[in-house]
Amino acid sequence: MSAIKVEKLVVRRGNNAVLKGISFTVAKGEVFALLGGNGAGKSTTLLTLLGFLPVDSGEASILGESVAQQPAAARQRIAYLPESANLYDHLDAYENLRYLLALSGLQPSRADMDAALDRVKLQPEARLRPLAAYSKGMRQKTAIALALLRQAPVLLLDEPTSGLDPVAIDEFNGLLKSLAATGCAVLLVTHDLYGACQVANRIALLRDGSLQGEFHAVNGETIDIKQVMASFSSVEAV
Ligand SMILES: Nc1ncnc2c1ncn2[C@@H]1O[C@H](COP(=O)(O)OP(=O)(O)OP(=O)(O)O)[C@@H](O)[C@H]1O
Ligand SMILES: [Mg+2]
Repeated sequence: MSAIKVEKLVVRRGNNAVLKGISFTVAKGEVFALLGGNGAGKSTTLLTLLGFLPVDSGEASILGESVAQQPAAARQRIAYLPESANLYDHLDAYENLRYLLALSGLQPSRADMDAALDRVKLQPEARLRPLAAYSKGMRQKTAIALALLRQAPVLLLDEPTSGLDPVAIDEFNGLLKSLAATGCAVLLVTHDLYGACQVANRIALLRDGSLQGEFHAVNGETIDIKQVMASFSSVEAV
């Protein structure tokens, strides 16, 4: 069974069909990147998988649970990193994790939280500081630690590397790969072609609500950025 399955999905927002019949699947252990420009429908795809937008026609499911028919069951299997992580500025990292995990009925120990924060490499001396003093990269790390502690089998990420410096992006991509290696299905939406090629097993191009092409990594190599770029420019030229 696919971890994420989307079939002929149509989603309207206002009077417009924003997703115009897209289909894709993401398997356990795979990083799939949806690449597209502003307004292509990337965030709409994620919000639909989370059950926050009504499905007009077609199907979307998470580990077999339909997002339209069983939105709560589907959402329970998802960890979601929105464009800007919605963490609490006046709380420190532990307090954020404790509070946000309590919303999912979880009570992590300090050791569990430290293990997750170690894994994302958030400096120990920062952990007791309010997040108001954190950089964007530190916030992303805290948000990923939250996703790790939720142990959700499906991870959705919206532009996770925007605003991160190259070192932080490399670290972040490494973390995503290690998460996928533990069996997590990762769906990433981005306009960062370079980053997508580094981290994804597969990339699909989303343009104006339709999928335009798909690229696969072969034999554990990364996806050839030139090939994707050539396809992107031919699409743009149409
Ligand atoms: N709340 C809304 N009501 C009506 N239409 C919306 C709403 N939010 C977005 N849209 C429309 O849906 C389309 C896709 O938006 P979406 O946010 O999914 O794009 P995106 O690919 O995530 O873009 P970006 O790269 O800018 O984040 C856009 O044309 C936008 O105008
Ligand atoms: Mg968006």
